[in-house]
Amino acid sequence: MPGELEFQNILITRNISFDLDSVIRKMNPESIFILSDTNTAFHCFPKIFDILPATYQHFTIDAGEKNKNIETLQNIWNFLAENRAVKNSLLINLGGGMITDIGGFAASTYKRGINFINIPTSLLAQVDASIGGKNGINYHHMKNTIGTINFPQTTIVAPEFLKTLPHNELLSGYAEMLKHSLIADNENFVNFTEEKIKEKIDNPDTLYTLIEHSIRIKTAITLADPFEKDVRKALNFGHTFGHAFEEFYIQTEKPLKHGYAVAYGIICELYISHKTLGFDLLTLLKIIEIIYALYGRIDFALDDIPKLILLMHQDKKNSDSQINCTCLSKIGKYEINTLITDQTAKDALIFYKQVTI
Ligand SMILES: NC(=O)c1ccc[n+]([C@@H]2O[C@H](COP(=O)([O-])OP(=O)(O)OC[C@H]3O[C@@H](n4cnc5c(N)ncnc54)[C@H](O)[C@@H]3O)[C@@H](O)[C@H]2O)c1
Repeated sequence: MPGELEFQNILITRNISFDLDSVIRKMNPESIFILSDTNTAFHCFPKIFDILPATYQHFTIDAGEKNKNIETLQNIWNFLAENRAVKNSLLINLGGGMITDIGGFAASTYKRGINFINIPTSLLAQVDASIGGKNGINYHHMKNTIGTINFPQTTIVAPEFLKTLPHNELLSGYAEMLKHSLIADNENFVNFTEEKIKEKIDNPDTLYTLIEHSIRIKTAITLADPFEKDVRKALNFGHTFGHAFEEFYIQTEKPLKHGYAVAYGIICELYISHKTLGFDLLTLLKIIEIIYALYGRIDFALDDIPKLILLMHQDKKNSDSQINCTCLSKIGKYEINTLITDQTAKDALIFYKQVTI
């Protein structure tokens, strides 16, 4: 009986060349296209270059979330069209979540869908963005507003790529691991001290084990509910507030990394969990302490709160009248579709601003 990783064709490897080579041989594509950004072209492409057939075509886009947009998408479609990509071509998305999101969407829509594989190179993409079939672009200043759910033929996760990932990007990915753990694990996780977490992230062997564990949590949930009708909404924990923070700061000179925004969102949504579902206060304070130690904090003004609440209403999970959160009654026990009022959202933001540990 295949496990959850096999169902979604996810390979976790210590030997990227060997596994990519065997995947390409098995797929036997008519032509191969690589998509990377400026950083992954420099740091990651050399690690797979050797095993590619001489005829591959490589397209590099500018790094950064602000480029996950319709203009870049059009450039990728143009690249595929100009190089005569056909149904049986293969697009290899080599990069972080920005690349796997936009590349997955380009491949899913070009000629109504060509084959693609993801090679996630950031921690966030390895444990989250490249897993579960969601792809897309930002549109009209709204995160991931245009996209599809369409699974890659294979996802190859190679922790060795993380050696060149900047430390703040590693921490950004760790926030999604923390989220997975809070929705699906037991209490032990919050007993990790800041030093212990840093030690684990910096050790390639423990990191490998943590990555595999986190991917298993996400794949089990997305297998149970690929189109987010029900339990997959659990994965939105931290993201109702997180996306609002991310969108708010994307318009400033100090954009927030996705995982950092999710970490701050976790604080707000745990506060609401405490108020509405009785989530334990001491555990909440312990998690806040860890998040502040790892991610610092943002300092929005009280006057910014209406704008943040408006951004929550514009999120595709919500409507004009309702904001929808996933909350926890305790670690490992989530409740999807918790509807909150604007006043509750405001209270959570004020709590975030005022709580001191
Ligand atoms: N589809 C989903 O289910 C899903 C889930 C979570 C997040 N996301 C999306 O993922 C994106 C965030 O992903 P991200 O944090 O990976 O962002 P990213 O792709 O922008 O990568 C972060 C930075 O790290 C660099 N980088 C990546 N791998 C590297 C490596 N090995 N060495 C050196 N530099 C490297 C990138 O060039 C970039 O500058 C957001 O767009 C978010 O919306 C999607």
